[in-house]
Amino acid sequence: MLTCLREDFGNPSSAHRMGIEASRRIKSAREAVLSALGDDRGAFGQVLWTSGGTEADALGVMGAARARKGHGRHVVATAIEHPAVLGSLDLLAAEGFETTLVPVEPSGVVSPEKMAGAVRRDTVVVACMLVNNEIGTIQPVAEVARAVRGERRDVHIHCDAVQAVGKIPVDVRGLGVDTLALSAHKLHGPKGVGALWLRKGARLSPLWSGGGQEQGLRSGTENVPGIFALGVAIGLAVGSLAEEMARVAELRARFANRVLGQGLGAWENGSDAPRVPHVLSLSFPGLTAEPLLHALEGRGVFLSAGSACSSKERGQSHVLRAIGVPDGAGTLRVSLARDVTADDVDTAAEVLVEEARTLAR
Ligand SMILES: Cc1ncc(COP(=O)(O)O)c(C=O)c1O
Repeated sequence: MLTCLREDFGNPSSAHRMGIEASRRIKSAREAVLSALGDDRGAFGQVLWTSGGTEADALGVMGAARARKGHGRHVVATAIEHPAVLGSLDLLAAEGFETTLVPVEPSGVVSPEKMAGAVRRDTVVVACMLVNNEIGTIQPVAEVARAVRGERRDVHIHCDAVQAVGKIPVDVRGLGVDTLALSAHKLHGPKGVGALWLRKGARLSPLWSGGGQEQGLRSGTENVPGIFALGVAIGLAVGSLAEEMARVAELRARFANRVLGQGLGAWENGSDAPRVPHVLSLSFPGLTAEPLLHALEGRGVFLSAGSACSSKERGQSHVLRAIGVPDGAGTLRVSLARDVTADDVDTAAEVLVEEARTLAR
């Protein structure tokens, strides 16, 4: 990435040697992303570079809905989507689309039958995330896609896989979706770069126009250093996926064991459902998350309430409300990264129990 910034700063649209070098870097990143998604050499689709997960979700949801507005103006999504998807639905509603949010079960998982039941004759897009960012539950996307297509074959299915790629195996061939969003900073890549995988034959309207990059679907000079880094990061993440999943799952259980059963009445959200190893959502009755977070921060432990990307939400988040977490409970989200060790987990759990006890007094 530093080489791209310092020396090889050519524009991939230029025909000269430096431009060709920049295109070569983008090509290697494209191959890495496609291969990480089970689509070697783009046999089933292509990768569009974006400024991150938010833009990839916006292009997947709004771009598909606008491309199909001649067929209908109804969009369906799970109630626990990230604000990047929910906000796209709001923007579509302002353009005259109708939207239906499908509630999830108390376990934090959506029912494929309920998703299919929300599909109408005028439904053009269905959005179902693969992993929820606040509670880590894995959604049955392949089953949702099958059930939805049983109702209407030509619906565009968008999947926000931002919290899944690099954490659990993701194979676009098996998921049966038309677009899939990912973001580099969830895989230890840089912030501000992501990608949208687009199935061959699926149609999108670009969100804006310009120089015609990415076949006109996402104009603008490519962020070569970011894209190159995303390619390297995704290769590293996927290369060590199985070992990392086992290691992180053990650390999560260790953390939970050290916090639960300490007389705080705390519980784990989403633990009855299939979930990713790196997310732990803990609720503490009678506590407010914010003061607890600040107390922890003062002792070098950095956690978030709900999720970092939606921490501006007031009160209980839409996800916690959807699974019935009572208003009087404060919820913390613990994310376990590649560089977190067992010692880190022990220290963080000890500090969390101490500070929660102090605040509960
Ligand atoms: C599930 C999910 N979707 C989308 C996003 C947005 O991605 P970005 O921050 O790259 O815009 C995030 C969080 O960052 C997320 O967790």
